[in-house]
Amino acid sequence: MDIKEYLRAGKCLIDTFLSDYFSGEIRPAVLSAAMNYSLQAGGKRIRPILCLAACEACGRNSADIVSFASALEMVHTYSLIHDDLPAMDNDDLRRGKPTNHKIYGEAIAILAGDALLTEAFSIFAATVPGVHAESQMAAVRELAAASGMKGMVAGQVQDMLSENAEPDEETLRFIHRHKTAALLSASVRIGALLAGARSGVFESLSLYGDRIGLAFQVIDDILDIVGETEVIGKPQGSDERKKKLTYPRLYGIEKSRAIAGGLIEEALQSLGYFGPEADPLRGIASYLLSRTH
Ligand code: IPE
Ligand code: IPE
Ligand code: MG
Ligand code: MG
Ligand code: MG
Repeated sequence: MDIKEYLRAGKCLIDTFLSDYFSGEIRPAVLSAAMNYSLQAGGKRIRPILCLAACEACGRNSADIVSFASALEMVHTYSLIHDDLPAMDNDDLRRGKPTNHKIYGEAIAILAGDALLTEAFSIFAATVPGVHAESQMAAVRELAAASGMKGMVAGQVQDMLSENAEPDEETLRFIHRHKTAALLSASVRIGALLAGARSGVFESLSLYGDRIGLAFQVIDDILDIVGETEVIGKPQGSDERKKKLTYPRLYGIEKSRAIAGGLIEEALQSLGYFGPEADPLRGIASYLLSRTH
């Protein structure tokens, strides 16, 4: 299958939903402007696309769940706005544009992030024809667990605490599993839940999500060193400046690449019992390993 075309079409679907959703009047106007600024700055839309692809791997039409998938991108975008703040990574460039706080100031950036997170839960709570209430409740719990104190927020706190710290494997894995893998993995699991996946299918997809989620952050760490600012759309060398605990810092670049490759291999193996309906998930896993931004 043509994975590039699949990613392009998925991104287009999500971009359209997000621009329609936030096109109405929101008061004060600066809140709308700040949310739209970061949402429309680009981004690969990998989390929503994974959600749609997982739904399709379960044999269900993903058109029904585009709102849920788009809400995942809202949670992700909130996390980026906050991650870039002076109190956190203090970065000036995101998705090839000045960071949200550089344009709107810290207070509005924090509040725009808060609003995106909250609105995402509002979308998750809205009834959608064809989606069973019980599956939907499970999906809400997944999103909360992945993004809050048991997920991304925990990872971000440990990431900050570990700046300048002695490298240690267990802490590094904790950070990456929580700050990044949790939401990526939840995106896959939510797609499967909303499709009404049986437990065996759900377990296989969960394993896939965990492995690509961890690999994603290992690759992000590598790109922070070997990438170019114009290509990655964020400041190259940010981790080194903040003395972050990263895979290349602990293992070097070559071993980190091998670790990412091994994780992607495990992700592909977890799809062994699926037929062509999981080809998009396979294509995404391989794409993640070769991505340049
Ligand atoms: C960047 O995520 C932050 C991490 C969790 C590594 P992405 O690489 O998905 O960023 P966008 O959404 O494409 O800008
Ligand atoms: C970010 O990790 C994880 C988030 C939850 C946003 P990074 O700090 O490495 O992400 P980038 O490199 O700024 O995108
Ligand atoms: Mg960070
Ligand atoms: Mg950062
Ligand atoms: Mg990074």
